[in-house]
Amino acid sequence: MLEQIRKDFPILSRTVYDKPLVYLDNAATTLKPQAVIDALNTHYAHETSNVHRGIHFLSNLATEKYENARKKVAHFIGAKSENEIVFTRGTTDSINLVALSYARKFLNEGDRIVCTEMEHHSNMVPWQMLAQEKKLDLVYIPILDSGELDMKQAEELINEKTKLLTFNWVSNSLGTVNDVEQLIAFAKKVDAKVLIDAAQAVLHFPLDVAKLDVDFLAFSSHKMLGATGLGVLFAKAELLESMPPIQGGGDMIEEVRLEGSTWNQVPFRFEAGTPHIAGVIALAAAIDYIQSLGFTFIQEQEKKLLSYAKEKLSDIHDIRIYGNAKNKVPIFAFTVEGLHGTDLATLIDQEGIAVRSGHHCTMPVLQKYNVPSLARASFAFYNSENEVDSLVSALKKAVEMLK
Ligand code: ALA
Repeated sequence: MLEQIRKDFPILSRTVYDKPLVYLDNAATTLKPQAVIDALNTHYAHETSNVHRGIHFLSNLATEKYENARKKVAHFIGAKSENEIVFTRGTTDSINLVALSYARKFLNEGDRIVCTEMEHHSNMVPWQMLAQEKKLDLVYIPILDSGELDMKQAEELINEKTKLLTFNWVSNSLGTVNDVEQLIAFAKKVDAKVLIDAAQAVLHFPLDVAKLDVDFLAFSSHKMLGATGLGVLFAKAELLESMPPIQGGGDMIEEVRLEGSTWNQVPFRFEAGTPHIAGVIALAAAIDYIQSLGFTFIQEQEKKLLSYAKEKLSDIHDIRIYGNAKNKVPIFAFTVEGLHGTDLATLIDQEGIAVRSGHHCTMPVLQKYNVPSLARASFAFYNSENEVDSLVSALKKAVEMLK
């Protein structure tokens, strides 16, 4: 089955420096199956048109596909209505929308926002900016050495002053899967709203926002086989209704007069300007593709990769893997003693192996472990155990050269 699935991803048949591509940078962006590429091509080649604006055939077709995709996304994440789905430019944009609209309106001086030390910068910097502007009390749940959140500290930090709790479901640098139910329960006890950054979760396991009863959830299309430049913000309907727009322009208005304007209904109020129409239509194709495989297959395949890679990587002398949570996805951030992560990544690139190195947009995680740079291999369901072997033998070779 895996061989067949790999054929769905045309890029997997290319070479890099005359070597077969081994793509292990899935946490940065996933590969795209032919079905997604076809959906993008079809829109541009045969169906180009704007949405919500025309009465002609192609505009109606694009609008229908765009709005059907919204329904599909809602269903995919268990939202009660498609009106709870806002299309944005990405997870970063979605988080900034919550910060600049919801939190800027409803949080006041002295209110607490609880974040975590393991956040991607996109779920940390917007809160730092807002906290400075509005004199909010921004605190962080610490990370334990295992790469898990300190849940005892979490319970203490989420106190009566807390108005918002925000955290990533899965850490992009450590692979940790956080205890979402427990964190939401802490927030509910003090009546705080919860925003989840699900960018690294969405391709690994099914999400159900209604069952979790979460208030906001953000993710990106490109980390779930879709196009770049597109994201989703889920927000409960009553919260979206209460939020002011943060961008003015076409499509987000009801009426514009010289003296002022009124706003469109949600979710359109938050989608000013021409959106990423082809990307949204292709996101529906990505969801169809994921559902045709099923999360049972995806999770089983990732479980295999996780344990195989963990075992094989531990063969490398002086390797240290950062993030050994009991519950994690196959993301391995590592260093080899005495070597810089970027040097390792550069050498194995010559073997056609793509891994990321650096701070992974999580500088505080590197500060916690006191390392300047981490190499990171991140797997997706279409990776194979052979690719783990290629990674390990390239790393062994690189370590020999560098030492
Ligand atoms: N957030 C992406 C990563 O982890 C870009 O690499």
